[in-house]
Amino acid sequence: MSATVTPRVSDVDTMREERIISGTHAEMRGPAGAFVEGQESEARQQLFGKIAPVYDQLNNMLSLGQHRVWKRMAIKWSGAQPGDVVVDLCCGSGDLAFILAETVGPSGEVTGLDFAREMLQDAEQRQKSLPFSLRRRQPQIRWIQGDAQQLPFSDNSFDAATMGYGLRNVANIPRALGELHRVLRPGAKVAVLDFNNSTSPAVDAIQGWALENVVVPMARSYGLGEEYEYLRPSIKRFPNGREQVRLAKEAGFFKAVHYEIGFNLMGVLVATK
Ligand SMILES: C[S@@+](CC[C@H](N)C(=O)[O-])C[C@H]1O[C@@H](n2cnc3c(N)ncnc32)[C@H](O)[C@@H]1O
Repeated sequence: MSATVTPRVSDVDTMREERIISGTHAEMRGPAGAFVEGQESEARQQLFGKIAPVYDQLNNMLSLGQHRVWKRMAIKWSGAQPGDVVVDLCCGSGDLAFILAETVGPSGEVTGLDFAREMLQDAEQRQKSLPFSLRRRQPQIRWIQGDAQQLPFSDNSFDAATMGYGLRNVANIPRALGELHRVLRPGAKVAVLDFNNSTSPAVDAIQGWALENVVVPMARSYGLGEEYEYLRPSIKRFPNGREQVRLAKEAGFFKAVHYEIGFNLMGVLVATK
């Protein structure tokens, strides 16, 4: 005779611990809780709050300025046009939202959403310090603190969306894709830029080497070693291009394509509702 045993809360906790502990060394790195089921969102929110003051500076140095090129590619693929109403999810300090503002022009509307208050404060500050000549050619960006997994927007409200280095960080990727699908208008696109979890062993080895030997040591010199150690396991757990396409279609997108860019170290998922 078989019996169903419901685990006690303490057993569930132990099972969770075991799942984390049984991971490889790379899977366990990063700030406490960043990979523990049920604790990821809070731990990651704190992580991004902590790195906010140096985030832009480190991004520029670590990508040798290339992140701007990849972000412009993502905006192009999002199909955003002058006059459009657009949203940038997980906007951080606002890089993509600023390019969107340039693209849609003064007759458009841009919203940037992130759950880390410190990142949004930085974004707002950056917008205030733009030269007046630039500001008058762009709409005022609406900065909203919120969760990408539960968007505070009505169905079918945006003509285009972007998400840069955000999807990898949300605790529930299918839910975030479902929310993106819900808020986009039929026919609208989202471009999701992130690190590529490449299936090529050579690309994976180069990415691992660069993170371990360049990115983490540089971040460590800013007192943020542990925070940047989170990058490698977060990439290894991130769905690869083919899986992202499948997840986007499961979320309801009519069409989805994943492009590898930046020597295949980065990827952009373009999904059409
Ligand atoms: C690596 S940063 C990217 C920032 C910016 N998009 C860029 O490309 O520079 C990731 C951002 O995602 C945000 N984030 C992660 N999970 C989130 C969630 N569930 N809801 C809203 N924002 C989230 C973090 O606060 C952080 O600002």
